Amino acid sequence: MTDTGAEALGTGRPGRDAEHAEAQWWRQATVYQIYPRSFADANGDGIGDLPGITSRVPYLRDLGVDAVWLSPFYPSALADGGYDVDDYRDVDPRIGTLEQFDELVAALHSAGIRIVVDIVPNHTSNRHVWFQEALAAGPGSAARERYVFRRGRGPRGEEPPTDWTAAFGGPAWEPVGDGEWYLHLFAPEQPDLNWSNPEVRADFLTTLRFWADRGVDGFRVDVAHMLAKDLTEPLPSKDELRTEGMPDGTHRLEDRDEVHEIYREWRAVFNEYTPPRTAVAEAWVPAHRRSRYASPDGLGQAFNFDLLQAPWDAAAFRGIIEENLELADASGASSTWVFSNHDTVRHATRYALPAGTDLVAWLLSGGTDPRPDPEQGLRRARAATLLALALPGSTYLYQGEELGLHEVADLPEESLQDPTWKRSLGTERGRDGCRVPLPWTTSGPSYGFGPGGAHLPQPPHFAEHSVEAQQADPASTLAFYRRALAERRRLQTDETLTWHDDKPDVVRFSRPGGWTCVTNFGSVPVPLPPGRLVVTSGPLEDGLLPPDTTAWLELPATDGRPTG
Ligand code: NOJ
Ligand code: CA
Repeated sequence: MTDTGAEALGTGRPGRDAEHAEAQWWRQATVYQIYPRSFADANGDGIGDLPGITSRVPYLRDLGVDAVWLSPFYPSALADGGYDVDDYRDVDPRIGTLEQFDELVAALHSAGIRIVVDIVPNHTSNRHVWFQEALAAGPGSAARERYVFRRGRGPRGEEPPTDWTAAFGGPAWEPVGDGEWYLHLFAPEQPDLNWSNPEVRADFLTTLRFWADRGVDGFRVDVAHMLAKDLTEPLPSKDELRTEGMPDGTHRLEDRDEVHEIYREWRAVFNEYTPPRTAVAEAWVPAHRRSRYASPDGLGQAFNFDLLQAPWDAAAFRGIIEENLELADASGASSTWVFSNHDTVRHATRYALPAGTDLVAWLLSGGTDPRPDPEQGLRRARAATLLALALPGSTYLYQGEELGLHEVADLPEESLQDPTWKRSLGTERGRDGCRVPLPWTTSGPSYGFGPGGAHLPQPPHFAEHSVEAQQADPASTLAFYRRALAERRRLQTDETLTWHDDKPDVVRFSRPGGWTCVTNFGSVPVPLPPGRLVVTSGPLEDGLLPPDTTAWLELPATDGRPTG
């Protein structure tokens, strides 16, 4: 679209009545992801906990987010940072209790903040009672039917059933000593569930109701594209797997069409509640397959990781935004925008590196080769975030990005917790560098994370990135996020957008109500479009918009434009 006219890209019809608006809260929400073990530690054992989060609800309120998404806080041996769940209907005693969970929900709700929890349905942990029963019950038992057990190859089953590899490295099958092996597409401590077993399906409905009854507003669904599998014999080899059936719904292990039968059942549960519970799929599928997960009779929304993977480039950004708004419109969902999460090198750091840097190799170099340009990284990260916050749809923020935190790329090897490190035999350092506990104060044993230490070492520069250091500084990244989120709340109206074709290095669009967002991806300053400056991601230069900077401008409502 161009200046010639606005076009409705979304299906949001805000404010028709209170109940409708209430049910649509997620469409243009800003959702703040909390990695509970690294957010705030109330009891000083070095691990973040629920009382720690509750104590920081005023911070979240002042930040201005609409919802919080909690990564797993369930009992877990932490073989994969909590994504190995022992019990889906309890809280890890190191993190808190169910009562403390209820207190957190109450505190968030009274601050006007919703809560989304993470559901991990592809695999349980190997300590889950079902898996323990499966091991004890032996081959051919109903208990083994809840998982994916197969006899190994060779006379005594001594070879794995296939040569498949797991996401964190190493084989995807583990022997249990009686000739059978179980499938784990992630770590060996994460056995895959068998989703064609009705008992598995029924149990997850119980779990969804358990949390929805406790006031949870929505669910983030872990690897939502992997639950349904076609495991009919003969099983393909690794090479055959790679080439067959992608991406048309016939791949043996991923993005199969029948996975949506599961989510239709879930939707029926979500709709038992008022307002209906929401869900967002973590589904690493090609863009054109994403809308299936986001459909209103399914999960309703799906993560779009396209910007997270995009280079800092105007054409790339605009192309991704246009495609995703169209896809969201076609599915009836709103789009999502994400730059950082607990699985990815922080975006301030990605943008500090030359385009095309191999991040795995860069992490292996301890973050030194190539040398990052942290100022450029933060400038671009702020500009990217301000751009995304102006878009129709919901934006997912990851804890610490509002402090301008960089990836901690030089964690000592002995401190690394991500299973990737060991499973890859030391060839991939993994994701710990974005999971380092947050700095709240400029000094103290863990920069205010808690009264004790921190479960991953924090670098000295966390002092100047701490909340305390930034709180009163109007030029800080924290102050910028607060301003941007407050203005977004004030300005955000319906889900439409009008593109303006400026210079090739500039991305500019307007939203209803006479509100414009402009980003300069180029290397020279550019003039600003007309309007009153509302917020910028960095300082202007002689009244011009410098490189790597975004600005929002507002036209006076008196010029005849609709005010939304
Ligand atoms: C995706 C999660 O975001 C990641 O942290 C986890 O390791 C895998 N799913 C497996 O659950
Ligand atoms: Ca603690």
